[in-house]
Amino acid sequence: MSDQDFPADLVITGGQVVTHETIRPAAIAVKDGRIVAVGEEDAMPAARQTFDATGLHILPGAIDVHVHFRDPGYTHKEDFESGTAAAAFGGVTTVFDMPNTIPTVADAASLAEKHAIASAKAHVDYGLYAVLGEESLANVPALVEGGIIGFKLYMGNTFGRIPSPSTGAMLEAFEVVAPTGKRVSLHAETNSIMERRQSRLVEAGRTDALAHLASRPAVVAVEAVARAAILAEWTGARIHILHISSAAELGPLRDAKARGVDITGETGAHYLMLAAEEYGRWGGIIRVNPPVREAANQGPLWDALMDGTIDMIATDHAPHTPEEKTRTDIWTVDCGFPGVETQIPLMLTEVAAGRMALTDLVRWSAYNPAKVWGLYPRKGAIQSGADADLAFIDLDRRWTIDDAALQSRSKVSPWHGREVQGLPVHTMVRGRFVMKDRTLMVDTRGHGRSVHTIQDVGTPSPRHTDETLAAVVAHRPGEAA
Ligand code: DOR
Ligand code: ZN
Repeated sequence: MSDQDFPADLVITGGQVVTHETIRPAAIAVKDGRIVAVGEEDAMPAARQTFDATGLHILPGAIDVHVHFRDPGYTHKEDFESGTAAAAFGGVTTVFDMPNTIPTVADAASLAEKHAIASAKAHVDYGLYAVLGEESLANVPALVEGGIIGFKLYMGNTFGRIPSPSTGAMLEAFEVVAPTGKRVSLHAETNSIMERRQSRLVEAGRTDALAHLASRPAVVAVEAVARAAILAEWTGARIHILHISSAAELGPLRDAKARGVDITGETGAHYLMLAAEEYGRWGGIIRVNPPVREAANQGPLWDALMDGTIDMIATDHAPHTPEEKTRTDIWTVDCGFPGVETQIPLMLTEVAAGRMALTDLVRWSAYNPAKVWGLYPRKGAIQSGADADLAFIDLDRRWTIDDAALQSRSKVSPWHGREVQGLPVHTMVRGRFVMKDRTLMVDTRGHGRSVHTIQDVGTPSPRHTDETLAAVVAHRPGEAA
């Protein structure tokens, strides 16, 4: 038989297949990058190759909807190649990259430039975010046309200092995006509160790490989530709350969900597993926006994941260099740290400890992200027709996180030295191993593709369309409607 005559390219045998609902022993057949059969080994089509996954659990590759790969503009911190290599080592097969690069992804040209970079360098699939602000509002149609996964709106300042739009501009932005069906992901921290507090803290001479937390109490997120939900409810825009850090902001999130607002949310391992008590030990290394908070927030965040108030986990992978992270004056330390490589092992450690099930991990890391962004069932599933995006996990492997061993260019994180249980041993993207036996496949540089082409946003439901700014400005009183 010639290669073309085989009904499958690859059959994976011996593994335990994990979905958001079940764990069962099954074989997986792959053809042209897609799964063509899942079931008994005997029932698999003939394949050119087989792969023995005995002893491993096979999960849908994680979809990390929040990473900063810094390319172009800050490639000393990360680039699309090092970032997607880190993703591959973390069992992550799709990433959504944030727009705070140089230039900011705010128009068709900067978007096209990032598409060119990503398609040349990525080992894993990706979606690109465009910024939604006062300046880029007019570019919404061109950005949607140019191929984005969604919009990012900065209600508060963070790395890159992208200006936050006024509430008026935000309402208009939601009006403009609502009919496109694209989701607006929000950095939901209210800028004016933080700026005021930070300048007073600076005046008072505070330069210690905890001053960062003091400048951004949970009320900045409570106020921002509530306000964003009001505007989303009015306009019918779909929104997503990034990096939920506090128990308090779960209140407005729950309320909005109960009112039927199309609102989703994510939290990350750093809010579930790190706490304010550790600022002394880590100093600027733990500085991130929003801040790691008091330990009392952790329980409610876990509960919110379990009951579906928070839909998913994402890393906010925010690489910086050791020099940028270890300055003594906290206000000069760059915010964030790498996470795309360590999130799944950290969560697997909680699975091993019995806090959550492996199926919960799939729901939060792959199934829900795919559903929310209209990629399901091409992504986030192990079934016929899905892309063969697979994370092969050794659940028993105990190891210690070592920043020096990270694929990321950012070799500095508050995870350094942490003992974990569970390791992605191989990662496959559309039928190709991009990481095998903890080794990067160098020939998969450029294998990654933008997922906007497979996104199905369904039917948008804009509201109050006769009262939008565009509608009222166009209105001529006295003329027939
Ligand atoms: O700490 C952060 N770092 N929070 C953000 O929102 C942005 C990120 C970055 O780009 O470094
Ligand atoms: Zn971020």
